[in-house]
Amino acid sequence: MSTQSQTALIHRFNGIPFTTRSSPDLLKSLDAFDAREDDILLVSYPKSGTHWLAQIIMQIYTPKVTLTSPIEFGDISRVEELNNLSSKRIIPTHLDYNMLPSNFKVKQCKAFYIIRNPKDTAVSMYHYYRDNPNLPTIDSWTVFLELFLRGDVVCGSWFDHFLSWEEHKNDRNILFLFYEDMKKDLPKVVKKMSVFLGVNISDREIKEICEKSSFTEMKSNVEKENSDPNHTVCALTSNRKLIFRKGAVGDWKNHFTPKENKMFEEMFKKKMKLSELAKHIIY
Ligand code: A3P
Repeated sequence: MSTQSQTALIHRFNGIPFTTRSSPDLLKSLDAFDAREDDILLVSYPKSGTHWLAQIIMQIYTPKVTLTSPIEFGDISRVEELNNLSSKRIIPTHLDYNMLPSNFKVKQCKAFYIIRNPKDTAVSMYHYYRDNPNLPTIDSWTVFLELFLRGDVVCGSWFDHFLSWEEHKNDRNILFLFYEDMKKDLPKVVKKMSVFLGVNISDREIKEICEKSSFTEMKSNVEKENSDPNHTVCALTSNRKLIFRKGAVGDWKNHFTPKENKMFEEMFKKKMKLSELAKHIIY
């Protein structure tokens, strides 16, 4: 990664790398953010399936809610923009638990946290770094993997992000979901989400939601520009075309060498030794 591009595009806040699309002034002001009891948070480490989840939530609620851009995206005017929304807000964020505005915690707002096998997340993020002009240049997969394992990528360490949220796995207002479960049995996950949200939907509606949320459908909608090309739920780009790549489980096997896999597994075991949720992550 060239030092020059790194310096131009990334800054650190609380030790975590952010792109300059999240201004320091905005990040500083977030803790005073005025959450509302009926806000819904959509939380993820980047490249874990945030857009997929957003697509489902919007259909469960349709059309009574507003899906905002990520809370940490933009400059200081972002706070006012969110405050001016009169409808119920679905607010995406890649912030770790410690950086989440405290008002969301006090008001016990409902939150989804989506988890994806970190090996696939790393691969997805690697391609995103290569395609996204807002992110620093990366020389190779091997270099990227080292940065990822060190937490020297946007939004910091996958492990720290996950662990900060996992501490709250028993909070009744947070629902943890796995990308791989969604791939395996989406209707079951959609049902679980609707029950959590307290919204009644029929089996026929669940079927329709799943059809409209398939990878093929979502990707082709972007290509046909049936969806707003400039509305993403990722603070790292506004270009929806950069989001949908393969949408697969296990693509890591096409990237990791046996040595890299061993290194990853060792780090995973060390960092996740006390984690309950990590046992559910599919390799
Ligand atoms: P890949 O790069 O592996 O294809 P996020 O929305 O958090 O930025 O995550 C993007 C990843 O989720 C991308 O992974 C993208 O293809 C995948 N994704 C988006 N919509 C999906 C869907 N409907 N089904 C499966 N994967 C999806």
